[in-house]
Amino acid sequence: MTLPMTPRSVTESVRTDAPDIDCVDLVRIFRTKDVEVQALQGLTLRIQRGDMVAVIGASGSGKSTLLNVLSGLDQVSAGRATVAGHDMVTMGRAERVRFQRTSVGFVWQQTARNLLPYLTAAQNIAAVIAIAGGPRGAARARRVDELLDLLGVGDMRDRTAAEMSGGQQQRVAIAVAIANDPAVLLADEPTGELDEATSEEVLGAMRRVNEERGVTTLIVTHDATVSDQVRRTVQIRDGRTSTEVVRSTRVDELGDEYAVAEEYAVLDRVGRMQLPATFTESLDLRDRVRLTLESDHVGVRRAADKPEPTAEPAVGAER
Ligand SMILES: Nc1ncnc2c1ncn2[C@@H]1O[C@H](COP(=O)(O)OP(=O)(O)OP(=O)(O)O)[C@@H](O)[C@H]1O
Ligand SMILES: [Mg+2]
Repeated sequence: MTLPMTPRSVTESVRTDAPDIDCVDLVRIFRTKDVEVQALQGLTLRIQRGDMVAVIGASGSGKSTLLNVLSGLDQVSAGRATVAGHDMVTMGRAERVRFQRTSVGFVWQQTARNLLPYLTAAQNIAAVIAIAGGPRGAARARRVDELLDLLGVGDMRDRTAAEMSGGQQQRVAIAVAIANDPAVLLADEPTGELDEATSEEVLGAMRRVNEERGVTTLIVTHDATVSDQVRRTVQIRDGRTSTEVVRSTRVDELGDEYAVAEEYAVLDRVGRMQLPATFTESLDLRDRVRLTLESDHVGVRRAADKPEPTAEPAVGAER
């Protein structure tokens, strides 16, 4: 995937070398009268400027909590989060409002939540440009048309949400979300209410926005098929990122391109990682495991198993 960097007219000073989304050991605890829910349990995620990433996880894994934190709608209990150069932890009220108006765009699952029902597509987009302090008059009208064309919904210009299909509403919603020319686009289950073919169209539209505008894009979803649409997929389990799949194309000896998908486990700052359930179940790994440091890998065995003899004895507390 090519990632041309269209210059972004973001007004604040953004360090271009820093990742656009940077979460380190993010914790969000919800306390109600008698229970405590740890929705995010030390989540680490770094997304480079211009990248498009899907975070995939089961219901309750903390996806919406993560997006609420990154969009400035919710606050963290511990850890660090930076979005487009803004520190989400120390940010004050005025900076939060400015951040939401100029640096970030959102698309929600519920198509009805994305558009004001009594405004047309063009008016919805124009309202966001106005709030962000964007161009006025003819320049604003041109920008509205440009955005509608980019998302392939020029013919929805004068329709309200009730006069559009779900897929059309979501594509207009993406136009609205990027109308403030944001550095970062966040989407929570943007295809959750759509059928497969329409989902693909909407994700294709997001990819086009990402490629043509250089908008750093994060999609959270429980739909594993989204991973086919993005280069990088991160799996979230129990409020932590656990594994990651990176897709790329390689060229074989005949010069033909082929796609490869490589899966990685996420190793956090203090050395924690999660073993996939398929691994732990098939080898019956639980409670305590034995680790051995080999010359080029780390071995994980059941505590009761004897390590295989190696030519060079492994370092550490083996015996
Ligand atoms: N405001 C809240 N108060 C208490 N608990 C909450 C709150 N918001 C979320 N939670 C809990 O935090 C956990 C993560 O919720 P979250 O909404 O982030 O999950 P999700 O991955 O988005 O799930 P889904 O796919 O169903 O949308 C859940 O156990 C949920 O019940
Ligand atoms: Mg959710």
